[in-house]
Amino acid sequence: MRFFTIAAVAASVALSVQGAAVPSHGAHLAVHERRSVPHREWIKRSRIPSKTKLPVRIGLKQRNLEKGHDYLMDVSHPDSPNYGKHWTSEQVIEAFAPAEETVDAVRDWLVASGISPGRIVHSDNKAWFAFDAFAEEVEQLLHAEYHEYEHLDGDRVAAACDEYHLPTHIQEHIDYITPGVKMITTSRKRSTKRSSIPGKSKGVTPLGAPSTKWPTGFPFNDINSLETCDVLITPACVKALYDIPTNTKATPGNEMGVYEEGDYYDQEDLDLFFQKYTPYIPQGTHPTPNFIDGAEAPVAVADGGGESTLDMELAYPIIFPQSLVLYQTDDYDYAVEYPVEGFGNEFLDALDGSYCTYSAYNETGDDPKLDPVYPDPHPGGYQGQLMCGVYKPTNVISISYGEAEIDLPENYQRRQCNEFLKLGLQGHTFLYSSGDFGVGGYPGDATSSGCLGPDGTIFDPQFPVNCPYVTAVGATKVYPGHSVFEPESAANDLAGAPWARAYSTAGGFSNVYAAPSYQQAALSTYFAEHNPPYPYYEGNASFGANGGVYNRLGRGIPDVSANGDNIAVFLNGNFTINGGTSAATPIFASIITLINEERLALGKSPVGFINPALYSNPWVMTDITNGSNPNCHSDGFSAVPGWDPVTGLGTPNFPRMLEMFLSLP
Ligand SMILES: *[C@@H]1O[C@H](CO)[C@@H](O)[C@H](O)[C@H]1NC(C)=O
Ligand SMILES: *[C@@H]1O[C@H](CO)[C@@H](O)[C@H](O)[C@H]1NC(C)=O
Ligand SMILES: *[C@@H]1O[C@H](CO)[C@@H](O)[C@H](O)[C@H]1NC(C)=O
Ligand SMILES: *[C@@H]1O[C@H](CO)[C@@H](O)[C@H](O)[C@H]1NC(C)=O
Repeated sequence: MRFFTIAAVAASVALSVQGAAVPSHGAHLAVHERRSVPHREWIKRSRIPSKTKLPVRIGLKQRNLEKGHDYLMDVSHPDSPNYGKHWTSEQVIEAFAPAEETVDAVRDWLVASGISPGRIVHSDNKAWFAFDAFAEEVEQLLHAEYHEYEHLDGDRVAAACDEYHLPTHIQEHIDYITPGVKMITTSRKRSTKRSSIPGKSKGVTPLGAPSTKWPTGFPFNDINSLETCDVLITPACVKALYDIPTNTKATPGNEMGVYEEGDYYDQEDLDLFFQKYTPYIPQGTHPTPNFIDGAEAPVAVADGGGESTLDMELAYPIIFPQSLVLYQTDDYDYAVEYPVEGFGNEFLDALDGSYCTYSAYNETGDDPKLDPVYPDPHPGGYQGQLMCGVYKPTNVISISYGEAEIDLPENYQRRQCNEFLKLGLQGHTFLYSSGDFGVGGYPGDATSSGCLGPDGTIFDPQFPVNCPYVTAVGATKVYPGHSVFEPESAANDLAGAPWARAYSTAGGFSNVYAAPSYQQAALSTYFAEHNPPYPYYEGNASFGANGGVYNRLGRGIPDVSANGDNIAVFLNGNFTINGGTSAATPIFASIITLINEERLALGKSPVGFINPALYSNPWVMTDITNGSNPNCHSDGFSAVPGWDPVTGLGTPNFPRMLEMFLSLP
């Protein structure tokens, strides 16, 4: 428990702590929330002493959550007259803020109950009332009994009640109250012994060093040759594949964002890469640091990370002279030593301060069970407060991380996805890697096989690419004997050739989100013309029913793809290759950054959420029709003409994409 020391708590409340908890005859009172089953991981301890101060938060019912999708389509669908007219953050807050009537009703009730107006803080995002109160006051207000709860991990304590009551006329205005029936940890116990179990690795990781030896005497030296792109993807190959011109623009404010966590760049590798492949990029070129919650970079060359070097060595050759902004997230403790199960919330907190306390889908702020808690109580951990709204999001952000959808509660995901929607409304493009395990997930995430169901035959979609308001990027490959002037094929390598493990671009259908409107026609065509040969279920309530292995109604993944195999990199001081959908994402993000340069030069807005425009204009993509994404004891889905759950709409055709996006208002 945190003991608050605010002096303003009314000293005059006199009540019988033991007696007041349960209303005797409350005709106008109703249970607002009740814990139906005892929490398995939390042990109920003693009653909270009456003079303990509790931080109370009242989440007000927000408006218009259900209209968010239409708002986003209004500014990002190419047929909309409001295309590109993005909102300010104030407009976003206003649109979803609780009604005036709600704010007034709840404030009046609090004041009438003895919480003086001076104690009540209304949050910046208008969604919250917050005040500190003695336990006895809270018990009186909510007709509840508060106990201390201790988590089985011995690391966390929380204040909670089994049920609480509200006047019936107030109920409709309140989402829920904390402390309440949910275990909101107000602090982690300080302990020198770390008792938490190391979390799961975030699913999308670069493939790392190839397991097969590189042939000696391989003609690495001609950096402009396109003859060897079927074995080694250089910057020249990427530009030739997608017809990307040499960039000359670097509009201030159009830097490209790249997210990293628990993987760190080193300058020596970037410099070696620039020296070899892009001598026009000055030695020492590095991203602008936007470090979040105690993160640090760069590191020594021996510690350089495969993901960071891959992302930066792919992006710089495309976007230079434009630069990168690095959103390195979380202190070393949470990022590397003891990764938590949640993902992405601290990053979004840093970009949008209102998200820190945003309440939606019964989730408020970061989840203390899933997300890091700052200040970090572990020795050497980041001692600052959680960073809220400290950085402006860049127009485009590339994120090559993720994990299994099934590993996180649905409401946690929905709240985060809603934030991508809000950031899309403000004109930002978020691109996520689809994953490297075909129709499955990272082995060890969800299940040991990375597949679902008792026999590991049910497909395992990934998070956050499942969110219909991000752009999901899959990976393609130039197979031996093929050239950059032909369409690529889905990336799919057997174990040992060249990667130690089997690699196959991830795709499929979400079990959390239904197919969004902008995707429905593409999915219908796919099912009508290329029906996959697997039994399916319809909707998450019937998960796995009738032997089904995928959700026929789910959001289709990915949206697009780009090259993600045999990528030339320098890592830890040496030339090597790397790959994965981790590579495809920064390539696609860099292309969107260049398109924004051209739109900005014409006085237009950045493209923001790109999916509706791409699904309406599949001609701007190169359709990928060869290959598949096997896993989970199946051959996976097949790449076919049109959208497919392997390569989405296909790979970029830069001139066509530019033409289309420049034709929009
Ligand atoms: C939120 O919690 C309330 C009470 O516990 C419950 O009735 C409601 O269904 C929940 N809403 C969501 C979206 O989970
Ligand atoms: C999953 O269930 C939720 C309700 O909990 C529903 O809103 C959603 O559409 C479902 N998703 C799919 C893909 O069926
Ligand atoms: C990597 O490069 C360093 C020096 O740059 C060298 O000492 C080392 O042997 C190389 N490692 C491999 C695996 O080639
Ligand atoms: C199709 O993909 C396979 C691998 O799945 C590859 O071996 C073959 O070369 C590809 N064919 C074409 C025409 O790209």
